[in-house]
Amino acid sequence: MRFGAFARIDMEDKIKNLNEKLKEAYLGGGQARIDKQHQKKKLTARERVIYLLDDNSFEEIGALVTHRTKSFGMDKQVFYGDGVVTGYGTIQGRLVYVFAQDFTVFGGSLSETHAEKICKIMDLAVKVGAPLIGLNDSGGARIQEGVRSLGGYADIFYRNVQASGVIPQLSAIMGPCAGGAVYSPAMTDFTLMVEDTSYMFVTGPNVVKTVTNENVTSEELGGASTHSTKSGVAHKTSSNDVECLEDIKSLLSYLPQNNTQTPTLLPFELKDEVRDNLSTIIPDNANKPYDMHEVIKGIIDEDSFYEIHKDHAENIIVGFARLGGRSIGIVANQPMYLAGVLDVNSSKKAARFVRFCDCFNIPLLTLEDVPGFLPGTDQEWNGIIVHGAKLLYAFSEATVPRITVITRKAYGGAYDVMNSKHIGSDMNFAWPSAEIAVMGAKGAAEIIFKKEINAAEDKEAKWKEKEAEYAQLFANPYSAAERGFIDEVILPKNTRRKLIKAFAMLEDKEVERPKRKHGNIPL
Ligand code: HXC
Repeated sequence: MRFGAFARIDMEDKIKNLNEKLKEAYLGGGQARIDKQHQKKKLTARERVIYLLDDNSFEEIGALVTHRTKSFGMDKQVFYGDGVVTGYGTIQGRLVYVFAQDFTVFGGSLSETHAEKICKIMDLAVKVGAPLIGLNDSGGARIQEGVRSLGGYADIFYRNVQASGVIPQLSAIMGPCAGGAVYSPAMTDFTLMVEDTSYMFVTGPNVVKTVTNENVTSEELGGASTHSTKSGVAHKTSSNDVECLEDIKSLLSYLPQNNTQTPTLLPFELKDEVRDNLSTIIPDNANKPYDMHEVIKGIIDEDSFYEIHKDHAENIIVGFARLGGRSIGIVANQPMYLAGVLDVNSSKKAARFVRFCDCFNIPLLTLEDVPGFLPGTDQEWNGIIVHGAKLLYAFSEATVPRITVITRKAYGGAYDVMNSKHIGSDMNFAWPSAEIAVMGAKGAAEIIFKKEINAAEDKEAKWKEKEAEYAQLFANPYSAAERGFIDEVILPKNTRRKLIKAFAMLEDKEVERPKRKHGNIPL
């Protein structure tokens, strides 16, 4: 019997605890496999687990499990652990459950017993209420096992769904992840991918060529760059294994252990919190873009922004941050891309993020500068109605503390959607530069003063005059504030202070919803 890729680092303690036979197996058979993995610029499964967890905190479960297959000469090829390292440990002192697929054993492929090991720690994670982290590196279903392997995948998928919204589930793709195997990461909360060494697709390049006659490489079809930009399947990419594991640790620091807890509140003392640099970000010309990251930076605790989906649907920014030591989720229109409009991808991206924050008691801050929904056949034919509704639905159902700051434009339906007071936001602030209206003054004047403009001798001048009239009335936050749709018009420099106090005020917010099985979000 042989052993898979037992790592070289810090394994003495573990090996001491195993029996002598196992020790011999490790010393005798594993090294070539370890080297192969390293040549591919990948850590071994065990190295990944050891790096991820606090020193000496890993406790392995099922190290002596082996597969039960006899056919295809499999009885002669048996490896302890059966291609997956599973167990528990701590990250920054917090309990987590981990599985790491071992590509050096049958390509990390998933057998019945391999699946059973993963299911065992998933069940423990839910019972105890601690995050689950999956480090995926696998050739998919163990081909020699047929339907037993497929059943194993389904057992995992089922558990992913039962655990959804109960414990945070994080997936790192650190090698191949193909076929139906992709659906487990897809059902977890976040998928991180390692650049150049990982890929995900339902059908690989060979099948693609046969069916559609397209020539495409694995990297183009499902590499980290493809999934972090085009498809949005990956929430974050890292340049190597170590960076990816560090990213997991950082992400976890913003999250609670489970849905009954809140994220750790870091020590914080309120000082003046005035940030003068927020006053100079909005350009004088309302049509000029600015970088909403600058607004985020000016509001949050220093260097605390953890962006999700950075390169996908860049017209909206989502991510975690700390504000006065509190973990919050931020959803912000980005005027630098497509003027910050809402479209299919940005609506889906933000909706998913809002729902995650709501599952795990993470308060939401919305920073709004949105000229509306993106017009056009492309958007309509791709279902902007349904996708835009996702974001509207997600905000409307969220019961966590919710605050909005309108920095500039809040036009049309997008005003309603972006966490308006009307759909349950708790506190809504606006900067003096805010424009809250059905549409921009130019378009509005053209429609409602059409007859007057057409009748005028100098049509252009009349249009300008009417545009100014409309802007005077609506291109400001005061009409909305008069009606209470805005709670306060605040100076940009005071935003951080206002938000810290408002989130603290909302800390004990509780909302009762009518009894129902679940809502029917427009998927
Ligand atoms: C059994 C497998 C395996 C698999 C790889 N191996 N995939 N063994 N079942 N699915 C074994 C290889 O035989 C080899 O064994 C070792 O793992 C390393 O594989 P290599 O091919 O040498 O590695 P590499 O060149 O890096 O290529 C990796 C790979 C390729 C691209 C993943 O192995 C591959 O294409 N594998 C098959 C992928 C696949 O079609 N899987 C089924 C997908 S369908 P030795 O002993 O030589 O080291 C699926 C359905 C899930 O997963 C459905 C869920 C609902």
